Amino acid sequence: MPQRKHLRPSRGASLPNTVPCVVHRVHRGTPSSVTVTLDPGAAMPRFLHTPGQRITFCLTLGSSTCYRSYNLVNDVGQLPEVAIKKVAEGGGSALFNEELQPGDILNVVPPSGHLYDAHLDHTARHFLLFAAGSGITPIISIAKHALKARPDHRITLLYANSSVHDIMMRDELEALAHSERLEVFHILGDGATGEDLSTGRLDHAKLSRLMEQFRSVELPETAFQSGPSGFMELVDDVVKRHPIPLPIIRYSFMQQPHLHPQDHRLTDATSDITVTLQGHTKLITDASRRDTLLKAADDAGIAMPANCRSGICHRCKARLISGHTVHSGIQNGRPVPKGWILCCQERPGSSHVQIEMD
Ligand code: FES
Repeated sequence: MPQRKHLRPSRGASLPNTVPCVVHRVHRGTPSSVTVTLDPGAAMPRFLHTPGQRITFCLTLGSSTCYRSYNLVNDVGQLPEVAIKKVAEGGGSALFNEELQPGDILNVVPPSGHLYDAHLDHTARHFLLFAAGSGITPIISIAKHALKARPDHRITLLYANSSVHDIMMRDELEALAHSERLEVFHILGDGATGEDLSTGRLDHAKLSRLMEQFRSVELPETAFQSGPSGFMELVDDVVKRHPIPLPIIRYSFMQQPHLHPQDHRLTDATSDITVTLQGHTKLITDASRRDTLLKAADDAGIAMPANCRSGICHRCKARLISGHTVHSGIQNGRPVPKGWILCCQERPGSSHVQIEMD
């Protein structure tokens, strides 16, 4: 553990509600990914998380402040840890993969998002987990949690990658696989295609055959998936066509802020949203009240300005002209002026909502 007197300069802008965290460890697990462990010091209680939650880094890249969110992959209660794949033209991922060193300080917004409901631990379950590439990060968090939460949870994990060199957090996966309750199927794209289910491109036929092996009626089943859109569509399609229906929960970068219990009466209703953006008005009809206004705009193909998607940067600030909205209940950044809302943090709360953005 580096001493604080040796700390290098802070990397990133400081904003309200960010916590300066010392980079405790940088582990380059594959040629193109890195695992970063942080030490939030006395703020550690604010970093206790639920599976699938992410933290947001406020970074200075060139002359601008940027926000990058990554899933926590550590066990709950241990130092926060993220695994980051280097992506082309990804300034944030390059900083983590190439420049970051132990002792650096990063400004970090504590965990947010909601993926895993606590009720899943009320009974023994068989989790079917599907991941591709860096989509493993929220999935490994669920796997770690489920193994600890109940001695009778069981997990089947399918993890697809281009080659063995691309498997992120391989050591952690191998350690988890010592449990008899976890079964891992690696699919590697660079292998020979043919009858072997574990090599070659994952397609409909191969995944359908794997599903026949995975499914069991011994325990209630729940599926989670995370990965590129093509992978998720394939999994959705195969799971839906299976003779035994299976609820599947998708991880999305557009993870919604946690839904408050008092919001439940609203969740099956829909709303119409009128958005005026730089003088142009569009109507979104039948938007789910489960989704934020930003998610509704994304789904409708409206390019609403947004950066952090976590209530920090205020890029998605809009004037509320009529109707009302329901706040996520989480205050991540500075307060919003009266009459304005953050579209990434608010859901429709009335049959019609009208907003205006500059
Ligand atoms: S996108 Fe940053 S506050 Fe909404």
